Amino acid sequence: MDSLRPDAGYDTLSVTPCSPHIGAEIGNIDLTRPLTDAETGELRRAFTDHLVLFFRDQRIGFDDHIRLAEYFGPIGYHFGGKTASRSTEDPRVRKFHADENTARVSGDVWHTDQSCAPVPPMASILYIHTIPPQGGGDTIFASMYRAYEALSDRMKGYLDGLTAVHDGRDVFGEGTPNAVHPVVARHPGSGRPLLFVNGAFTKRIVELPEQESDAVLRFLCAHCSRPEWSFRFRWQPHSIAMWDNRCAQHFAVSDYLPSVRSGYRVQIDGVAPPAAA
Ligand code: SIN
Repeated sequence: MDSLRPDAGYDTLSVTPCSPHIGAEIGNIDLTRPLTDAETGELRRAFTDHLVLFFRDQRIGFDDHIRLAEYFGPIGYHFGGKTASRSTEDPRVRKFHADENTARVSGDVWHTDQSCAPVPPMASILYIHTIPPQGGGDTIFASMYRAYEALSDRMKGYLDGLTAVHDGRDVFGEGTPNAVHPVVARHPGSGRPLLFVNGAFTKRIVELPEQESDAVLRFLCAHCSRPEWSFRFRWQPHSIAMWDNRCAQHFAVSDYLPSVRSGYRVQIDGVAPPAAA
């Protein structure tokens, strides 16, 4: 990060973009105490501008974690099911821990958190306090704004008005809800169009025959994860990543077992993704 320059448009925080299309590291902030109105305003602006915010050296507890989330909205609900994540003594905080006993790391496929829900969480905040000693366990984030913009006008026209089924049973198990969302959605805050399909949950484009739907989804999911609009975040102990599920998807790299990687996640409630048109 040292060679990258902070954005000049911020007075209280330092906001250093990590890549052209996604991610910024936030400095000059202490998340173990309440933020001022000026800091909160700049944090919200940075979140809109950069989609994913990273914080370093923040030894936060559950109260700090929840306070950060509540600057953005009410706390959301985590599905558990058959994933490796676990509940904690606080129902608002979920434990993300993997070690020698973990069969499969949570999130090791491109996804938007819980897009199978009729109202997916608008954002997730992951705090990792323990990282594998040999490295690994990075998280890759991709901008769905940029993925949409990079499509041809022909493809944009073809996708306009289509909807897709997001089904959570493969990830969370039987009894998980499913939902139909627009393939091209609009961010409720920025108003920008974006691609809203992902490899983990999006199973079928409703308006297309099955084979055509499979082919289009294969193309779109590969397109969404292209390196041109992705950024790979390397965790350190006590790092935090906060991502906007409405316009970014992510992939947790599972390359470190049997070493330990451990932390906690809080989610923020959202609204149903509106169609772009
Ligand atoms: C997730 O998919 O939400 C977990 C991300 C991570 O563990 O890096």
